[in-house]
Amino acid sequence: AVERTFSIVKPDAVAANNIGEIYSRFENNGLRIVAAKMMQLTKEKAEGFYAEHSERGFFNDLISFMTSGPVMVQVLEGEGAVMKNRDLMGATNPKDAAPGTIRADFATSIDENAAHGSDSAESAAREIAYFFSDAEICDRIR
Ligand code: CMP
Repeated sequence: AVERTFSIVKPDAVAANNIGEIYSRFENNGLRIVAAKMMQLTKEKAEGFYAEHSERGFFNDLISFMTSGPVMVQVLEGEGAVMKNRDLMGATNPKDAAPGTIRADFATSIDENAAHGSDSAESAAREIAYFFSDAEICDRIR
């Protein structure tokens, strides 16, 4: 089914000028960008987004990295978009990411791993609503 997922091009990939390369991966693989913006995350915004990880040992490093520079946030739409985007990104740790995936090609470490993507339809709905109002999401089906 056609569905939506949420994606972040993280500060490392923005700083390395890889926004376009990563957007091309989406567009060349059946995903449409239906909302997008560049923003600098505040500590509060990042902590809210990653609240489920707040007890993890990597949490403080994650928040300081995600607030270290601008990110691109986007909503991707297409057939099986949640899994498609996760396949395109590859494993969380670029050391484990399959060749040709976004993380294999653009990430340097598990902390600075170039991209985030929702892990389920439920997460996608929550994450999209955390960053975008309904009016900011464009209907591109017709
Ligand atoms: P992301 O999909 O944005 O979700 C949480 C992030 O925490 C993850 O990508 C990684 O960049 C980062 N992270 C750092 N260490 C770990 C770890 N051990 N397990 C999972 N995520 C980690």
